[in-house]
Amino acid sequence: MSSPSSDSDAVGVVGDAGRVTVEGVSQRYGSGKDRVTALGPVDLDVEPGSFLVLVGASGCGKSTLLRLLAGFEQPAEGRVTVSGEAPVPGVSAGVVFQQPRLFPWRTVGGNIDLALKYAKVPKAERAERREGLLHRVGLEGTADRRIWEISGGQQQRVAIARALAADTPLFLLDEPFAALDALTRERLQEDVRRVSAETGRTTVFVTHSADEAAFLGSRIVVLTRRPGRVALDLSADLPRSGIDSEELRRSGEYNRLRAEVGRAVKAAAA
Ligand SMILES: Nc1ncnc2c1ncn2[C@@H]1O[C@H](COP(=O)(O)OP(=O)(O)OP(=O)(O)O)[C@@H](O)[C@H]1O
Ligand SMILES: [Mg+2]
Repeated sequence: MSSPSSDSDAVGVVGDAGRVTVEGVSQRYGSGKDRVTALGPVDLDVEPGSFLVLVGASGCGKSTLLRLLAGFEQPAEGRVTVSGEAPVPGVSAGVVFQQPRLFPWRTVGGNIDLALKYAKVPKAERAERREGLLHRVGLEGTADRRIWEISGGQQQRVAIARALAADTPLFLLDEPFAALDALTRERLQEDVRRVSAETGRTTVFVTHSADEAAFLGSRIVVLTRRPGRVALDLSADLPRSGIDSEELRRSGEYNRLRAEVGRAVKAAAA
Protein backbone atom coordinates (compact mmCIF):
# COMPACT_ATOMS: atom_id res chain seq x y z
CA MET A 1 0.00 0.00 0.00
CA SER A 2 1.32 3.41 -0.86
CA SER A 3 0.84 6.43 1.38
CA PRO A 4 -1.98 8.93 0.70
CA SER A 5 0.53 11.58 -0.37
CA SER A 6 2.05 9.36 -3.05
CA ASP A 7 -1.46 8.50 -4.27
CA SER A 8 -2.42 12.08 -4.85
CA ASP A 9 -0.99 12.18 -8.36
CA ALA A 10 -2.25 8.75 -9.34
CA VAL A 11 -5.38 8.42 -11.44
CA GLY A 12 -8.26 6.08 -10.82
CA VAL A 13 -6.89 4.73 -7.52
CA VAL A 14 -9.42 2.69 -5.57
CA GLY A 15 -9.74 5.23 -2.74
CA ASP A 16 -10.73 7.84 -5.33
CA ALA A 17 -13.60 5.86 -6.87
CA GLY A 18 -16.60 8.19 -6.91
CA ARG A 19 -14.70 11.14 -5.43
CA VAL A 20 -15.34 14.45 -7.17
CA THR A 21 -12.84 17.29 -6.93
CA VAL A 22 -13.27 20.83 -8.19
CA GLU A 23 -10.09 22.90 -7.90
CA GLY A 24 -10.07 26.62 -8.65
CA VAL A 25 -12.73 26.14 -11.33
CA SER A 26 -14.13 29.12 -13.26
CA GLN A 27 -16.21 29.14 -16.39
CA ARG A 28 -16.69 31.94 -18.89
CA TYR A 29 -18.85 32.25 -21.97
CA GLY A 30 -18.76 34.59 -24.95
CA SER A 31 -16.04 37.04 -25.90
CA GLY A 32 -15.33 40.78 -25.97
CA LYS A 33 -18.05 42.88 -24.38
CA ASP A 34 -20.39 39.85 -24.31
CA ARG A 35 -18.02 37.91 -22.12
CA VAL A 36 -19.70 36.54 -18.99
CA THR A 37 -18.05 34.87 -16.04
CA ALA A 38 -20.74 32.32 -15.16
CA LEU A 39 -19.03 30.52 -12.31
CA GLY A 40 -16.19 30.58 -9.87
CA PRO A 41 -13.65 30.27 -8.71
CA VAL A 42 -15.07 27.21 -6.92
CA ASP A 43 -13.30 24.54 -4.86
CA LEU A 44 -15.12 21.40 -3.72
CA ASP A 45 -14.12 17.95 -2.60
CA VAL A 46 -17.09 15.59 -2.66
CA GLU A 47 -16.87 12.35 -0.68
CA PRO A 48 -17.61 9.14 -2.59
CA GLY A 49 -21.22 8.05 -2.10
CA SER A 50 -22.36 11.34 -0.59
CA PHE A 51 -25.48 13.29 -1.61
CA LEU A 52 -24.55 16.90 -2.36
CA VAL A 53 -27.25 19.45 -3.10
CA LEU A 54 -26.28 22.65 -4.93
CA VAL A 55 -28.64 25.55 -4.27
CA GLY A 56 -28.66 29.08 -5.62
CA ALA A 57 -30.64 31.73 -7.41
CA SER A 58 -31.40 31.54 -11.11
CA GLY A 59 -28.36 32.24 -13.28
CA CYS A 60 -25.75 31.69 -10.54
CA GLY A 61 -24.02 28.89 -12.45
CA LYS A 62 -25.53 25.68 -11.03
CA SER A 63 -26.12 24.03 -14.41
CA THR A 64 -22.72 25.25 -15.57
CA LEU A 65 -21.06 23.43 -12.67
CA LEU A 66 -23.08 20.29 -13.40
CA ARG A 67 -22.04 20.35 -17.07
CA LEU A 68 -18.40 20.63 -15.98
CA LEU A 69 -18.83 17.62 -13.65
CA ALA A 70 -20.42 15.62 -16.49
CA GLY A 71 -17.52 16.50 -18.80
CA PHE A 72 -19.89 18.19 -21.28
CA GLU A 73 -17.63 21.25 -21.24
CA GLN A 74 -14.15 22.17 -20.02
CA PRO A 75 -13.48 24.86 -17.39
CA ALA A 76 -11.84 28.14 -18.43
CA GLU A 77 -9.65 27.78 -15.35
CA GLY A 78 -8.96 25.06 -12.82
CA ARG A 79 -9.54 21.32 -12.85
CA VAL A 80 -12.41 18.89 -12.31
CA THR A 81 -11.84 15.22 -11.53
CA VAL A 82 -14.20 12.27 -11.07
CA SER A 83 -12.59 9.16 -9.58
CA GLY A 84 -9.23 10.90 -10.00
CA GLU A 85 -9.58 11.59 -13.73
CA ALA A 86 -11.00 14.25 -16.01
CA PRO A 87 -14.72 13.45 -16.49
CA VAL A 88 -15.76 11.75 -19.74
CA PRO A 89 -19.29 12.42 -21.06
CA GLY A 90 -21.53 9.36 -20.73
CA VAL A 91 -18.87 7.44 -18.78
CA SER A 92 -18.37 9.47 -15.60
CA ALA A 93 -21.95 10.49 -14.91
CA GLY A 94 -25.58 9.62 -15.56
CA VAL A 95 -27.54 12.88 -15.90
CA VAL A 96 -31.20 13.76 -15.32
CA PHE A 97 -32.47 17.12 -16.60
CA GLN A 98 -35.55 19.20 -15.75
CA GLN A 99 -37.39 17.71 -18.71
CA PRO A 100 -37.25 13.93 -19.18
CA ARG A 101 -35.89 14.23 -22.77
CA LEU A 102 -37.08 10.74 -23.75
CA PHE A 103 -37.60 9.50 -27.30
CA PRO A 104 -41.39 9.78 -27.66
CA TRP A 105 -41.63 7.25 -30.48
CA ARG A 106 -39.95 4.55 -28.40
CA THR A 107 -41.54 2.59 -25.58
CA VAL A 108 -40.41 2.92 -21.96
CA GLY A 109 -38.30 -0.22 -22.43
CA GLY A 110 -37.01 1.03 -25.78
CA ASN A 111 -35.68 4.19 -24.16
CA ILE A 112 -33.86 2.15 -21.51
CA ASP A 113 -32.55 -0.34 -24.08
CA LEU A 114 -30.97 2.46 -26.07
CA ALA A 115 -29.09 3.66 -22.98
CA LEU A 116 -27.96 0.09 -22.26
CA LYS A 117 -26.75 -0.21 -25.83
CA TYR A 118 -24.73 3.03 -25.50
CA ALA A 119 -23.38 1.67 -22.22
CA LYS A 120 -22.16 -1.35 -24.24
CA VAL A 121 -24.23 -3.85 -22.27
CA PRO A 122 -24.33 -7.08 -24.38
CA LYS A 123 -27.68 -7.60 -26.09
CA ALA A 124 -28.33 -10.87 -24.25
CA GLU A 125 -28.14 -9.11 -20.88
CA ARG A 126 -30.24 -6.07 -21.74
CA ALA A 127 -33.72 -7.45 -20.94
CA GLU A 128 -32.73 -8.41 -17.42
CA ARG A 129 -30.88 -5.14 -16.81
CA ARG A 130 -33.85 -3.18 -18.17
CA GLU A 131 -36.29 -4.91 -15.80
CA GLY A 132 -33.90 -4.33 -12.89
CA LEU A 133 -33.67 -0.62 -13.69
CA LEU A 134 -37.45 -0.24 -14.07
CA HIS A 135 -37.95 -2.07 -10.77
CA ARG A 136 -35.49 0.30 -9.08
CA VAL A 137 -37.58 3.32 -10.04
CA GLY A 138 -40.96 1.69 -9.28
CA LEU A 139 -41.94 1.12 -12.94
CA GLU A 140 -41.84 -2.67 -13.18
CA GLY A 141 -44.08 -4.07 -15.89
CA THR A 142 -44.23 -0.82 -17.90
CA ALA A 143 -41.61 -1.66 -20.56
CA ASP A 144 -44.18 -1.87 -23.37
CA ARG A 145 -45.95 1.40 -22.55
CA ARG A 146 -45.59 4.35 -24.91
CA ILE A 147 -43.97 7.49 -23.51
CA TRP A 148 -47.10 9.57 -24.18
CA GLU A 149 -49.21 7.09 -22.21
CA ILE A 150 -47.38 7.69 -18.93
CA SER A 151 -47.50 10.70 -16.59
CA GLY A 152 -44.84 13.41 -16.26
CA GLY A 153 -43.70 11.89 -12.96
CA GLN A 154 -43.40 8.45 -14.57
CA GLN A 155 -41.48 9.95 -17.48
CA GLN A 156 -39.03 11.44 -15.02
CA ARG A 157 -38.71 7.99 -13.41
CA VAL A 158 -37.78 6.58 -16.84
CA ALA A 159 -35.18 9.37 -17.17
CA ILE A 160 -33.74 8.36 -13.77
CA ALA A 161 -33.59 4.69 -14.82
CA ARG A 162 -31.89 5.71 -18.05
CA ALA A 163 -29.31 7.76 -16.12
CA LEU A 164 -28.50 4.63 -14.09
CA ALA A 165 -28.13 2.39 -17.17
CA ALA A 166 -24.38 2.94 -17.48
CA ASP A 167 -22.35 1.98 -14.45
CA THR A 168 -21.15 5.53 -13.73
CA PRO A 169 -19.62 6.62 -10.41
CA LEU A 170 -21.58 9.88 -10.50
CA PHE A 171 -25.31 10.66 -10.64
CA LEU A 172 -26.21 14.26 -11.58
CA LEU A 173 -29.68 15.80 -11.45
CA ASP A 174 -30.48 19.34 -12.63
CA GLU A 175 -33.79 20.54 -11.10
CA PRO A 176 -35.40 17.25 -12.10
CA PHE A 177 -38.67 17.76 -10.24
CA ALA A 178 -39.28 21.47 -10.85
CA ALA A 179 -42.10 20.78 -13.33
CA LEU A 180 -43.96 18.26 -11.16
CA ASP A 181 -46.82 18.71 -8.68
CA ALA A 182 -45.96 18.79 -4.97
CA LEU A 183 -47.08 15.24 -4.11
CA THR A 184 -45.29 13.65 -7.08
CA ARG A 185 -42.21 15.72 -6.28
CA GLU A 186 -42.14 14.47 -2.68
CA ARG A 187 -42.44 10.84 -3.80
CA LEU A 188 -39.67 11.24 -6.32
CA GLN A 189 -37.44 12.98 -3.76
CA GLU A 190 -37.79 9.96 -1.48
CA ASP A 191 -37.07 7.60 -4.36
CA VAL A 192 -34.05 9.46 -5.64
CA ARG A 193 -32.53 9.47 -2.16
CA ARG A 194 -33.12 5.73 -1.86
CA VAL A 195 -31.73 5.04 -5.35
CA SER A 196 -28.62 7.10 -4.62
CA ALA A 197 -28.01 5.19 -1.37
CA GLU A 198 -28.73 1.77 -2.91
CA THR A 199 -26.45 2.29 -5.89
CA GLY A 200 -23.70 3.98 -3.85
CA ARG A 201 -23.26 6.63 -6.53
CA THR A 202 -21.95 10.04 -5.59
CA THR A 203 -24.95 12.28 -6.24
CA VAL A 204 -25.04 15.99 -7.07
CA PHE A 205 -28.55 17.45 -7.18
CA VAL A 206 -29.30 21.02 -8.30
CA THR A 207 -32.33 22.90 -7.00
CA HIS A 208 -33.71 26.38 -6.24
CA SER A 209 -35.61 25.01 -3.28
CA ALA A 210 -34.37 25.18 0.31
CA ASP A 211 -37.01 22.55 1.25
CA GLU A 212 -35.73 20.13 -1.35
CA ALA A 213 -32.11 20.78 -0.34
CA ALA A 214 -32.84 20.16 3.35
CA PHE A 215 -34.81 17.00 2.63
CA LEU A 216 -32.24 15.46 0.29
CA GLY A 217 -28.76 16.66 1.09
CA SER A 218 -26.16 14.98 3.24
CA ARG A 219 -24.24 18.10 2.29
CA ILE A 220 -25.67 21.39 1.05
CA VAL A 221 -23.69 23.98 -0.89
CA VAL A 222 -25.24 27.39 -1.52
CA LEU A 223 -23.80 29.42 -4.41
CA THR A 224 -23.65 33.21 -4.59
CA ARG A 225 -25.19 35.08 -7.48
CA ARG A 226 -23.20 35.07 -10.73
CA PRO A 227 -20.36 34.29 -10.90
CA GLY A 228 -21.34 31.50 -8.52
CA ARG A 229 -18.99 30.91 -5.61
CA VAL A 230 -19.49 28.86 -2.48
CA ALA A 231 -21.45 31.01 0.00
CA LEU A 232 -22.30 28.24 2.48
CA ASP A 233 -21.15 24.64 2.78
CA LEU A 234 -23.07 22.60 5.34
CA SER A 235 -23.01 18.96 6.26
CA ALA A 236 -26.58 17.98 7.00
CA ASP A 237 -26.73 15.19 9.54
CA LEU A 238 -30.50 14.76 9.82
CA PRO A 239 -31.65 11.61 11.61
CA ARG A 240 -32.64 9.27 8.79
CA SER A 241 -32.72 5.73 10.06
CA GLY A 242 -35.90 4.48 11.70
CA ILE A 243 -37.76 7.64 10.71
CA ASP A 244 -40.14 8.02 7.76
CA SER A 245 -40.21 10.99 5.39
CA GLU A 246 -43.28 12.54 6.98
CA GLU A 247 -41.69 12.47 10.41
CA LEU A 248 -38.46 13.88 8.98
CA ARG A 249 -40.35 16.78 7.38
CA ARG A 250 -42.07 17.52 10.69
CA SER A 251 -38.87 17.35 12.75
CA GLY A 252 -37.30 20.42 14.35
CA GLU A 253 -33.90 19.54 12.82
CA TYR A 254 -35.31 19.50 9.29
CA ASN A 255 -37.20 22.76 9.77
CA ARG A 256 -34.18 24.53 11.26
CA LEU A 257 -31.99 23.34 8.38
CA ARG A 258 -34.58 24.41 5.80
CA ALA A 259 -34.77 27.88 7.37
CA GLU A 260 -30.98 28.21 7.49
CA VAL A 261 -30.60 27.22 3.83
CA GLY A 262 -33.46 29.53 2.84
CA ARG A 263 -31.80 32.50 4.57
CA ALA A 264 -28.43 31.67 3.00
CA VAL A 265 -29.94 31.43 -0.50
CA LYS A 266 -31.60 34.83 -0.08
CA ALA A 267 -28.47 36.45 1.34
CA ALA A 268 -26.27 34.91 -1.38
CA ALA A 269 -28.56 36.18 -4.13
CA ALA A 270 -28.60 39.75 -2.79
N1 LIG B 1 -23.49 28.48 -23.31
C1 LIG B 1 -23.62 29.68 -22.73
N2 LIG B 1 -23.33 30.81 -23.40
C2 LIG B 1 -23.43 32.03 -22.81
N3 LIG B 1 -23.83 32.23 -21.54
C3 LIG B 1 -24.15 31.14 -20.82
C4 LIG B 1 -24.07 29.82 -21.38
N4 LIG B 1 -24.44 28.95 -20.42
C5 LIG B 1 -24.74 29.69 -19.33
N5 LIG B 1 -24.56 31.01 -19.58
C6 LIG B 1 -24.75 32.08 -18.61
O1 LIG B 1 -24.05 31.73 -17.43
C7 LIG B 1 -24.80 32.07 -16.27
C8 LIG B 1 -25.03 30.83 -15.43
O2 LIG B 1 -25.93 29.98 -16.14
P1 LIG B 1 -26.46 28.60 -15.55
O3 LIG B 1 -27.35 28.03 -16.57
O4 LIG B 1 -25.32 27.79 -15.09
O5 LIG B 1 -27.29 29.11 -14.27
P2 LIG B 1 -28.25 28.30 -13.30
O6 LIG B 1 -27.78 28.59 -11.91
O7 LIG B 1 -28.34 26.88 -13.72
O8 LIG B 1 -29.65 29.03 -13.53
P3 LIG B 1 -31.16 28.43 -13.47
O9 LIG B 1 -31.44 28.23 -12.02
O10 LIG B 1 -32.00 29.52 -14.06
O11 LIG B 1 -31.19 27.16 -14.25
C9 LIG B 1 -26.08 32.73 -16.77
O12 LIG B 1 -25.90 34.12 -16.74
C10 LIG B 1 -26.19 32.23 -18.18
O13 LIG B 1 -26.87 33.14 -18.99
MG1 LIG C 1 -29.88 25.71 -14.46
